[in-house]
Amino acid sequence: MSVTPHRHDVLILGSGAAGLSLALRLDDDLSVAVVSKRELKEGSTLYAQGGISAVLDAADSVDSHVQDTLRAGAGLCDRKVVKQVVERGPANIRWLLDQGVQFTRDEARGSAGGYHLTREGGHTHRRVVHAADATGRAVATTLEAQVRAKASVTLFEQHIAIDLITSRHVSGSKDHRCLGAYILDLGTGKVEVYLARFVVLATGGANKVYLYTSNPDVSTGDGIAMAWRAGCRVANMEFMQFHPTCLYHRQARSFLITEALRGEGARLLLPDGERFMPRFDPRAELAPRDIVARAIDHEMKRLGTAYVYLDISHRPPDFVIEHFPTIYHRCLELGIDITKDPIPVVPAAHYTCGGVMVDGRARTDLPGLYASGETAYTGLHGANRMASNSLLECLVYSELAAQDIARLTAESAHPPDVPPWDESRVTEPDEEVVVSHNWDELRRFMWDYVGIVRTNKRLRRAKRRADLLQQEVIEYYSNFRVSNDLIELRNLLEVADLIIQSALRRRESRGLHYTLDYPQKDPSQRSPTILIPDTYRPRSGV
Ligand code: FAD
Ligand code: SIN
Repeated sequence: MSVTPHRHDVLILGSGAAGLSLALRLDDDLSVAVVSKRELKEGSTLYAQGGISAVLDAADSVDSHVQDTLRAGAGLCDRKVVKQVVERGPANIRWLLDQGVQFTRDEARGSAGGYHLTREGGHTHRRVVHAADATGRAVATTLEAQVRAKASVTLFEQHIAIDLITSRHVSGSKDHRCLGAYILDLGTGKVEVYLARFVVLATGGANKVYLYTSNPDVSTGDGIAMAWRAGCRVANMEFMQFHPTCLYHRQARSFLITEALRGEGARLLLPDGERFMPRFDPRAELAPRDIVARAIDHEMKRLGTAYVYLDISHRPPDFVIEHFPTIYHRCLELGIDITKDPIPVVPAAHYTCGGVMVDGRARTDLPGLYASGETAYTGLHGANRMASNSLLECLVYSELAAQDIARLTAESAHPPDVPPWDESRVTEPDEEVVVSHNWDELRRFMWDYVGIVRTNKRLRRAKRRADLLQQEVIEYYSNFRVSNDLIELRNLLEVADLIIQSALRRRESRGLHYTLDYPQKDPSQRSPTILIPDTYRPRSGV
């Protein structure tokens, strides 16, 4: 049965900071579809706590923000990209203020436009603008309200993109271009065709590939997997960031305790009360995340403990409650009064530093396809992202994508018709347990073998398991009707394979990739890990 395709000028897959800021920046004359696999706000953006980094204080400088980012990135950042993102920071914060985001104010600090700036690991200045400890909620709710009011934008919530449509889907086509996506409507169960002149991947990270993560369920690497299958290169997938401090509590598995707590003086303690970070780095609790997470992992393994403590009880209670109301109330519900008690914390998978390779205009290898936000690899983060540089990257790359789309609109043609989704050979799934079992197995072996500390042996073991599961799931996918869980599992397996392949290639320890087999940094390996799919074709022309 053929159904009329949905046609738009721009198709945005994902509705976090990257997707929504792009939708708002596009010209009102362009018809825009925003597709989101849950309700619009759900995504990592909503849960961001610490804030957004930008040079706003007169005592700070672009050069200082650039240097801090390069240092955290352990030699793998692209300096030109870092400079471009940092320079665009203040204007992007102003853009958010214009949209109506209410950041925490501090009238005494006239030089930062009256906004309170906090500190986080790796930053040598106070430069993180925030809305108390719920910055993401302030950003997501404001952008959601704006986008719902924009007439040229049509929203498709509870719709999950399965795969990109390219010229290869059109028989006899000599073009090489992205044309749209096959999208499953989770309400009706129907797969429909969405065509657009420009397609943007803004689907977030892949941190659900690990058993323990700070991320919401939507972070299953869909955009990275779809781009890879469509012939785009991906880079630096070995650099998965583990946030040092997630709450350790049976009832609150993925609740983050923001790094800003350490920025405001919180200390990491062993169960006997010893402060241990100064033994690992002179910056102590404010060392970059890779160092802090590894130190915690080391101490937990050395002592056989399930967690360490983070303690801010030495700061005045009023200060703690005013700056960290979300964390204070959530912990109190669980019986922990953070103004008096230390907080049990553990590291958890938090951020995907690698992703779909894009150029300085957010363009991927496939003409017509852009990527922005956590899905993209821009060169900003190198081997380790500095705190609060991620939301900034989402905003800047969506701004760049919007500018490029505006530049190309006049000359870009509407896509031709493409074949509908073919379900003629599939039946209803017979054993859902295959999906749930493989999902659990994948996340557990990724945690055990491809986590904070790696070895060749563990990585090879993980590769064997990933290959087996991938075969099984590809077979299942070819025979049965697609479902949300099957789509996500297929993507997680694709991304797990990319992570393991990249980790096996890097024969040194650098930034977030630490392996006992090569514990030192090797200056000859100072370049990104680029994986090239069989279907890759270099871009030509504009
Ligand atoms: P997301 O916000 O994750 O949005 C992804 C969107 O894509 C969602 O709408 C999802 O439904 C949709 N989607 C995914 N797959 C599909 C599909 N197949 N079809 C349709 N839709 C799809 N960074 C900072 O800079 N500062 C912070 O303070 C900070 N704190 C954080 C705290 C937490 C708890 C977490 C988890 C992250 C934090 N980060 C922070 C990181 C930052 O929040 C994320 O990197 C950023 O929000 C990613 O935005 P995004 O738009 O790329 O993706
Ligand atoms: C945090 O608030 O600790 C998270 C900040 C980030 O991931 O950038």
